[in-house]
Amino acid sequence: MTTNTPLRVALSGLGTVGGGVIRLLDANRDLITRRAGRGIEVVAVSARDRSKDRGIDLTRFDWVDDTRELASHPQADVVVELVGGSDGPALTLARSTLAAGKGFVTANKAMLAHHGLELASAAEAAGVPLKFEAAVAGGIPVIKGLREGAAANAIGRVYGILNGTCNFILSKMEAEGRDFAEVLAEAQALGYAEADPSFDIDGVDAAHKLSILASIAFGTRPAFADVAATGVRHVIAADIAEAAALGYKVRLVGVAESGANGLFQRVHPHLVPIDHPLAHVTGSLNAVVAEGNFVGRLFFQGAGAGEGPTASAVVADLIDIARGEFGPPYAMPAASLTAEPKADSGERRARAYLRFTVEDKVGVLAEIAAAMRDAGVSIESLIQRGVAADGSVIVAIVTHEGPERSVAHALEKLRGSQSLAGQPLWMPILG
Ligand SMILES: NC(=O)c1ccc[n+]([C@@H]2O[C@H](COP(=O)([O-])OP(=O)(O)OC[C@H]3O[C@@H](n4cnc5c(N)ncnc54)[C@H](OP(=O)(O)O)[C@@H]3O)[C@@H](O)[C@H]2O)c1
Repeated sequence: MTTNTPLRVALSGLGTVGGGVIRLLDANRDLITRRAGRGIEVVAVSARDRSKDRGIDLTRFDWVDDTRELASHPQADVVVELVGGSDGPALTLARSTLAAGKGFVTANKAMLAHHGLELASAAEAAGVPLKFEAAVAGGIPVIKGLREGAAANAIGRVYGILNGTCNFILSKMEAEGRDFAEVLAEAQALGYAEADPSFDIDGVDAAHKLSILASIAFGTRPAFADVAATGVRHVIAADIAEAAALGYKVRLVGVAESGANGLFQRVHPHLVPIDHPLAHVTGSLNAVVAEGNFVGRLFFQGAGAGEGPTASAVVADLIDIARGEFGPPYAMPAASLTAEPKADSGERRARAYLRFTVEDKVGVLAEIAAAMRDAGVSIESLIQRGVAADGSVIVAIVTHEGPERSVAHALEKLRGSQSLAGQPLWMPILG
């Protein structure tokens, strides 16, 4: 559909991404108009603080104090929400925009993880677009890649590095041999990590994104509550060094699989073989791998956050809407997404890395080995290394392939052992 009438946009949120959207639309105006077949014009904006200097001339837009009122702005065809938060004003705005029969674009993975199915149903009922390319892996067009490019395939597995902050921290620990807390503090000082970094470093942000990807990849209902999320807080420099000596990198990987046992979704630090493409994703980059039954392995990589990349994804959604190109948000009608049971991870078979920090005394290795043997875990290699200043020793074990349940049993047997200093760390090896 080509028309000379511009697509008129109401923009909620003028922070990193909102400001980026205005700058991008200004910089690439002519190209975007040619690609979209019509102009894309911001007509109204809203944020908390009207007086804040954002380095953008806002006098050309209608300023709206209460962001929720953008839903009924008389000049706007579409609302773009770049405020954030799973509930609150973002959710109110989403519901009322769709109820008003207008399109809605968002980068808000937290809101989609919690309310995506409801919002998709509302958009479909109203016959309007709901688009969220920027919500997963920032600038990487992975939603489009799965919804459109890979639409002909049954996808069995989708996995990837979905949080740039964690990847930045792990890469820096790897390059500089430093421990987590030190690198996190530096990342915060540089603005790469939030003042409250828990959503990022505890794997919650990656879990939000994984639940969205899984739904689109498998045609299942978004099931954020079923994602098991563990972040990178407990990875120490010695883990990264041991992994390197064994031929692996440590990465926070979100994995989703759909199979006979149900839907498996987990975010956890993994050992990634050095010859796997994810091992070469460093710094704040993101990457997603999808395995389709006809296309084979697809690999998407790029900037997962930041003003330019995220604005690029938001404006791509607007160009689709301007062209009249949109379909069901989750690639099929919300009513046909299936509700899958949560898969039992105990049945999964993998090799694993286990690290124990132990007292330097006789019998400790025998105790660990006995717990492994009794639980049926077969050890492929065991390294005991170095006496730290506090007298503790690192024991790093790689297991043969076996059920995760057995490893969990072994760790359970060792719980509370006087020989262990602190919690053991378990990381699956990406197969
Ligand atoms: N930053 C990224 O790289 C990135 C990447 C992917 C996805 N996202 C997502 O994009 C969204 C926006 O992120 P961001 O980094 O741009 O956030 P941000 O820089 O913190 O900006 C948030 C904006 O929302 C406004 N705001 C906050 N509460 C509000 C309220 N109650 N009413 C009206 N406006 C309100 C703020 O107003 P003031 O400016 O007046 O304070 C600010 O303009 C989030 O959902 C985030 O998860 C961000």
